[in-house]
Amino acid sequence: MPGDGIGKIVLEEAIRVLDAVGFEADYIHGDIGWEFWCKEGNPFPERTQKLLEQHKIGLFGAITSKPKDKTLAELAPELQDKGFTYYSPIVSMRQKYDLDICMRPCMTFKGNPLNFIRRGFGGMIEEPVIDTMIFRQNTECLYGGVEWTNPPDQVYDALMTHKKFKENFAWCPRPELAVSTRIFTKKYTSRIVKAAFEYAKSRGFTTVTVCEKPNVVRETSGMMLKVAQEMAKNEYPGIKVQDTNIDAQMMWLTKNPETYHVIVAGNMFGDIVSDGFAGLVGGLGFACSANIGPEIAVFEPTHGSAPKYAEFNPSIVNPIAMILSACMMLEHIGESDKAKKIYSAVAAVVEDGKVMTYDMMKLPGNQDAFIKGAANTTEMADAIIEKIVK
Ligand code: NAI
Ligand code: MG
Repeated sequence: MPGDGIGKIVLEEAIRVLDAVGFEADYIHGDIGWEFWCKEGNPFPERTQKLLEQHKIGLFGAITSKPKDKTLAELAPELQDKGFTYYSPIVSMRQKYDLDICMRPCMTFKGNPLNFIRRGFGGMIEEPVIDTMIFRQNTECLYGGVEWTNPPDQVYDALMTHKKFKENFAWCPRPELAVSTRIFTKKYTSRIVKAAFEYAKSRGFTTVTVCEKPNVVRETSGMMLKVAQEMAKNEYPGIKVQDTNIDAQMMWLTKNPETYHVIVAGNMFGDIVSDGFAGLVGGLGFACSANIGPEIAVFEPTHGSAPKYAEFNPSIVNPIAMILSACMMLEHIGESDKAKKIYSAVAAVVEDGKVMTYDMMKLPGNQDAFIKGAANTTEMADAIIEKIVK
């Protein structure tokens, strides 16, 4: 599912790398994205849904989403006023297929000029080595879509039964009231927490950090912390639970990121903390992710379709985030040796420092980057392919 914009470009490069490592697969194209919204009124067509149901493993590039007014304006004239509503296909996919476990690794590649550095005592410059896996619950929380502006009677009446609502919000005229719910279920909270423990166990890490805000958001954050504490006690005696608040965690991110190896959080805080960590290890050009459900799994870079770079020829964007996402796919299906080969090849190219895309050189994203020595997207993939140990 290449999707839109640079999604198409980086996915093609990732498949070349998969071919080069000797991974044998049939790739079946799935239509997804803006083009299909405009032409068909559905950015995630049913035929693509069927393919995913049949084949179970997806590689996804990126899609374009636009604000509500543009969404309707760009819909084909014959589809206008037919009641079509745009839903982001990646969000629909996560919910429809229960892709509830999102893994976002943030790992330092030695020699990456974008690595975070900090000042130590006496003017010392330190470059901490970060090796963190963030487990983000992918289907619930504030992104569950259960929300209202001007809530209907039953919802309003229910809210009025809550003491705090009655005391603090009853003054607000209903049409001026917006409510977004933050729903956690024990089933899915337990699944994401369990995934974090299993990963910690497999890597030999002895701490799992629950990054929420249980002192304030008592019910939902509180549930996740309690689930983790009980799980540690009953099932993972060698692993302890550390509890951090999202706000403090964002500050500690730059203070001591190397001390966090496994972080688990709800949907929104997981989104925030994973973007924060990604910024320490090279940003969007390096940030990969996995969306794993009970049956289906989809692997994608964290970045979007970057429309402003979509038409560049040759393309300037960094394919590493997509290539690392493909590595996560290999790990997931039990092809760890091939995943390691690709990972090592990426590490070798970064450490060499001879081939860098514009983002790694901190250059503005335009064609002048090539004059200044930046590699294009294909050259970066070629360099990685060349380093793959046969
Ligand atoms: P974006 O991630 O597409 O791009 C933001 C900026 O990050 C780019 O302008 C570029 O400077 C940099 N960048 C992104 N990917 C890069 C790469 N591989 N190499 C080098 N630099 C890279 O986010 P933006 O601009 O906020 O959104 C563009 C579109 O993408 C929107 O329509 C948005 O809805 C969609 N989007 C889709 C996502 C998905 O498919 N999962 C995720 C995020 C945004
Ligand atoms: Mg994000």
